[in-house]
Amino acid sequence: MSFLSSEPKRSEEPAADIAPGARLIPRITIQAFCEHSQTAQLVESAIHDRRMSKVALTTHNGGIDGAVETYKSNPTPNLIIVETLLAPDEIPGALERLAEVCDASTRVVVLGHVNDVLLYRELIRSGISEYIVLPATAQQIVGAITELFASENAAPIGRTVGFVSAKGGAGSSTVAHNVAWAIATVLRQDSLILDMDLAFGTAGLNFNQDPPHGLADALMANQKVDQTMLDRLMSKAANHISLLTAPVTLDRTYDFEEREFEQVLELCQNTMPMVVLDIPHAWNAWVRQTLATVDEVVIVAEPDLANLRNAKNLADTVRALRPTENAPCLVLNKVAMPRRPEINPAEFASSVECQLIGQLPFDAALFGTAANNGQMIAEVAANNKINDVYRAISMHVTGRQATHAGGKSSSLMKLPSFLKKRA
Ligand SMILES: Nc1ncnc2c1ncn2[C@@H]1O[C@H](COP(=O)(O)OP(=O)(O)OP(=O)(O)O)[C@@H](O)[C@H]1O
Ligand SMILES: [Mg+2]
Repeated sequence: MSFLSSEPKRSEEPAADIAPGARLIPRITIQAFCEHSQTAQLVESAIHDRRMSKVALTTHNGGIDGAVETYKSNPTPNLIIVETLLAPDEIPGALERLAEVCDASTRVVVLGHVNDVLLYRELIRSGISEYIVLPATAQQIVGAITELFASENAAPIGRTVGFVSAKGGAGSSTVAHNVAWAIATVLRQDSLILDMDLAFGTAGLNFNQDPPHGLADALMANQKVDQTMLDRLMSKAANHISLLTAPVTLDRTYDFEEREFEQVLELCQNTMPMVVLDIPHAWNAWVRQTLATVDEVVIVAEPDLANLRNAKNLADTVRALRPTENAPCLVLNKVAMPRRPEINPAEFASSVECQLIGQLPFDAALFGTAANNGQMIAEVAANNKINDVYRAISMHVTGRQATHAGGKSSSLMKLPSFLKKRA
């Protein structure tokens, strides 16, 4: 497959052509598969609109078939734009083939050459987000994307995942940071790490960053915090990874009300596809509230008795707090520490009644080196099998199908939302 542009484009144009106050499209990734180079140019020109300033966009050749080939072995972005030259009666079938290789959360916009109301209705009914008739303007394309991702009634784009340790030091921060790294490098999704351990957090250290501002500034601003302020407070840790770091100063105490993080979290969800919450090992009102409201809870535990007791308590409590939401899942860390007696991982998981989504071995040298260098495990040891475990956890928490090769099952159960309605 030849790429018209292999590097994601982000707009560097100053604010110009839209009304003040118009909402920016969140930090999503968009991949477009075009049949004509003019269409690719049209899509690329959309990136100059200010609303697109946070979006990463790539354009490729090949239309629907090109997209199907690509996503057989690659993760899907937040939005796929496909141009098609097919006849109206062939389009739904071709899109079904695309659906089979797409992740459930991916949206699809179709650019077609046929102005046909029946086709439009059928595609919208089947879950396609928009059908735009060519020739179209860049404004029409940006308008459709804005409507999908930034309108008043658009669902928040961000998926929130909270990592918490069953016992202090079990490794939830290390797992959270490395999983964010896997999401960024393997899935190429933008993620934001919130270091909620305001007094002692390690996100800054682990990514070798010491930004002057972070999460505490957003919380202290109370009602004044908005998207622009949040953007200023974030620091970039790596490609696709932003941080809201903890101040890690002890000149005050960090006592928050139950819902004090709510507004900041909502803002984060409006701008970032993945929000990774590094939650301290503590039990107060806001920790409980956070665990009750995030999309996924990951409990990180070491395979010993105190961790087992605490993990069981945590899992039972989280399940009771959110009976209709995703059940918490379990990661066992520091497994097979030399000379340490331990509880068998499968038995541990079944006592806690949680799905075991990853087991990470104890490796003092590797983790010590990574921590001291302010690097992720994949940076210190790219070929270590531990990275596969972080990858598998990242697939799980982002709601993707966990396959090692990145290939996808075509089971109807896993059809993305854009065709589920028909299935
Ligand atoms: N698999 C591992 N093998 C060896 N050391 C590890 C492993 N995972 C994490 N560590 C080390 O364990 C220490 C504690 O990890 P981390 O800070 O992630 O724990 P935590 O659960 O976030 O702690 P807290 O609950 O206090 O927030 C760190 O020094 C980290 O480098
Ligand atoms: Mg921690």
